[in-house]
Amino acid sequence: MAVMTAPIQTERVKKSRLSTVDFSNLGFGTYISDHMVVADYKNGEWQEPKIVPYAEMMMSPAILALHYGQSVFEGMKAFKNKNGQITIFRPQRHHQRFNRSLERMCMPAVSEELFINSLASLIEVDESWIPTADGSSLYIRPFMFANESRLGVKISDEYRFVILTCPVAPYFSKPVRIKVEEEYVRAAEGGTGYAKCAGNYGGAFYPTMLAQKQGFDQVFWTDAKEHKYIEESGAMNVMFVLNGKLVTPKLVSSLLDGVTRDSILTLTSSLGIETEQRRISVTELEEGLKSGTLTEAFGVGTAAVVSPIASISIQERNYQLPVAGPESFQLRAKKKLNDIRMGTEPDVHGWNYIVK
Ligand code: COI
Repeated sequence: MAVMTAPIQTERVKKSRLSTVDFSNLGFGTYISDHMVVADYKNGEWQEPKIVPYAEMMMSPAILALHYGQSVFEGMKAFKNKNGQITIFRPQRHHQRFNRSLERMCMPAVSEELFINSLASLIEVDESWIPTADGSSLYIRPFMFANESRLGVKISDEYRFVILTCPVAPYFSKPVRIKVEEEYVRAAEGGTGYAKCAGNYGGAFYPTMLAQKQGFDQVFWTDAKEHKYIEESGAMNVMFVLNGKLVTPKLVSSLLDGVTRDSILTLTSSLGIETEQRRISVTELEEGLKSGTLTEAFGVGTAAVVSPIASISIQERNYQLPVAGPESFQLRAKKKLNDIRMGTEPDVHGWNYIVK
């Protein structure tokens, strides 16, 4: 889908930092591109967005975001495809989720025009930052925070919307070792789990750090009520191949509605696998691991793309998963997704937003 972008007031950097980027060792989020989008919300309306050089911002230490946590973000990716086009993967769907998160946090909505036009313009300005090596991409981080200076506990009247981009390599460099978390909780039903708000991530650090000290990379969060059902993992939704079917936790209010999750579920019919979105208990997971009927486990997310899981630990019993071969569902799904993004497979779902 091609777009026209409305011109946005742009101030360019005097000297690009691009030459300082080690494209052979990008990591994730290490390098921020030259420019950013900034738009302020004041007096009940959005002000014109601007593209400006990436730099520190002056802010009062009393802004409400710092004290009461009104802060929401998104994560998307842009690519340069085999035809030399710059594309963004499913920005409309990310925009819709951004607004759902904003609503949950009592923050004003951002129009599709503000979200997508400013994003597309930013990517054109920093086009040379899009990496082209296999598996790399330009990660896009739109975020918004309460910008009113006041210590009283209240919904902010002022906000700032910012978009940063950064060239990134795959999020996980090797298959992930998982611990099933049965003590701490990421989100409870009725809470903010489905929103991409900053606090969900801050609250996850402590249990994840404890798991990492035990030699794991990430946890599987379980439901807050009984610790009985698998929900999601650190930075990704989770999927399993169990008895030959693709099984993934069904969406409830404590789970993030992942765009990659949705994309993979949409691709399953053409990949020839039956799917089930339902509750998956820890017991069922363990039985599948013991009997060998659980043949694949992997995480899916914008940053993680499709990340294989190497092992799952349940109450100190550690189960290894087979290494995913080229015929595995996860590698076929990953390839299909990648081929659609790169333009080597027709984009029948209209997922690629063509910037240029
Ligand atoms: C994403 O996949 O975009 C995420 O939000 C994960 C993480 C980098 C926070």
